[in-house]
Amino acid sequence: MIKAVIFDLDGVLVTTDELHFKAWSSLAEELGIKGFTKSDNARQRGVSRMASLEILLEKTDRQFTDEEKEELAERKNEMYIRSISKLSKSDLLPEAVEFIDYIKSKGIKTAIGSASKNTPLILKKTEISDKFDAISCGLDTVRAKPEPDVFLIAAKKLGIAPECCAVIEDSDAGIRAAKSGGMYAIAVGAAEHNPEADVSVASIESLYKAITLLA
Ligand code: BG6
Ligand code: MG
Repeated sequence: MIKAVIFDLDGVLVTTDELHFKAWSSLAEELGIKGFTKSDNARQRGVSRMASLEILLEKTDRQFTDEEKEELAERKNEMYIRSISKLSKSDLLPEAVEFIDYIKSKGIKTAIGSASKNTPLILKKTEISDKFDAISCGLDTVRAKPEPDVFLIAAKKLGIAPECCAVIEDSDAGIRAAKSGGMYAIAVGAAEHNPEADVSVASIESLYKAITLLA
């Protein structure tokens, strides 16, 4: 029985994916890295900032020390923060908020489980912080998706057993994390067709019936 739904943030509730791509592309340009494409960016979906940086650095033979990598990640983040500072309610993905309100009306708890350390800022800008009973993000753990930690921390904060939690994710790393945490995994958008998911849908709109049956 599902008692809580844990939502990924980027790409599930809010349209930040394009902003991540733009910031990584600008960093690539600064470093003279050519050929960083949307398909490289797709591999950055769901994984931590440092893992995302490593995906970008695969495109160059240049070597960087750990300290330099920290500086590069910080530079990308400064550019990214400039874009997310302009986010508003209009950047929420269609139907996301209605779906959250719907499941809350059914007595199902809600949480965020995101790799992003910018989660508090994104929630504030899009004005949805108060819709969640718990928030777990990249600031809560260093073990990023596909490790299950960010979701297990969300479940713990909610006081609900992992097997009673469903995760809604658009990344393969997130689906793996949900399954290894013993949770029900719902794949949306880019993760639709992920064979590890328990349910796969093109968008949140298709989930109303499924959630009612599981709760
Ligand atoms: C995830 C994104 O939600 O957060 C990744 O899908 C991103 O692409 C990760 O790398 C970390 O985000 P941030 O905001 O901490 O750099
Ligand atoms: Mg995502």
